[in-house]
Amino acid sequence: MTNCCDFAGNYDFSCLPEIKKLEQLALGCDYGGTSWTTRQQVDIIVESLQLDPDTQLLDIGSGSGWPGLLLGKLSDCNVTLLDIPRNALLQAKERAADDDMTEQVGIVSGSGTSLPFRDRSFDRVSHSDVLCCLPEKLELLHEARRVARDGAGMHFSVILPTTGLSAEEHDEVLETGPPFVGVDGDYRDLLHGSGWRVVECQDVTGEYEDSLQRLVDGFIANKDELGQVLGRDDLASKRKHREDQIALIKRGLLRREAYVATAI
Ligand SMILES: C[S@@+](CC[C@H](N)C(=O)[O-])C[C@H]1O[C@@H](n2cnc3c(N)ncnc32)[C@H](O)[C@@H]1O
Repeated sequence: MTNCCDFAGNYDFSCLPEIKKLEQLALGCDYGGTSWTTRQQVDIIVESLQLDPDTQLLDIGSGSGWPGLLLGKLSDCNVTLLDIPRNALLQAKERAADDDMTEQVGIVSGSGTSLPFRDRSFDRVSHSDVLCCLPEKLELLHEARRVARDGAGMHFSVILPTTGLSAEEHDEVLETGPPFVGVDGDYRDLLHGSGWRVVECQDVTGEYEDSLQRLVDGFIANKDELGQVLGRDDLASKRKHREDQIALIKRGLLRREAYVATAI
């Protein structure tokens, strides 16, 4: 549930109890996450990646462990979480300990564009709304492919502008969407160009819009409590920002997609 580039700041915010309450309302989880992956979508990821106790899963841009830790908990697979902000990784470490998952979880500080792993180290790769948060999309996909074994599955979600927008509409999406929502070309082409074959692409814009709406409703229902934590101005601007995103979706300008791909 993020928008600016201050990722570490986002995690200081998302771990507050009042914000976790909103996360529960909007997404059905309480990991201090900053993507729009819902609790229900995690079940779909477990199934589409066919995760099991023998799987080595890498979750890139894992933040505080959403959804990587739940993927591990539900399937008993081994999970490596990788991200840059130290506070997020610390939160993930604490959650893994609370959930008795320390043995099963590796936590690594690093960039998805230069992964600190050997070639062909993982059976599965996942990333939730990470490609719309960094400019080097193709580099990340290449790196994901390098560390994936041949035939490995990858699941990811991404927020993006609808194709065929006018320059003005496109600028609106860049202004209001995630920090690097713009994409040069098409994700299918980027996947193809980095050694991945697309198995499935699902439009999950409706679920994204519903989550945004539940978040806005949560802002309204909890405005006194949140006003004390955030300040009234910050609360009003956060609410407006989400309402603006909903408006972009309703106008058909902004979408969210979920991909399943295989390493070829
Ligand atoms: C929208 S957040 C999603 C985080 C988490 N997956 C979740 O669902 O809560 C995007 C994440 O991408 C991470 N990120 C941005 N650039 C990155 C990079 N070069 N390498 C790895 N992670 C990166 C950010 O730190 C942030 O945690």
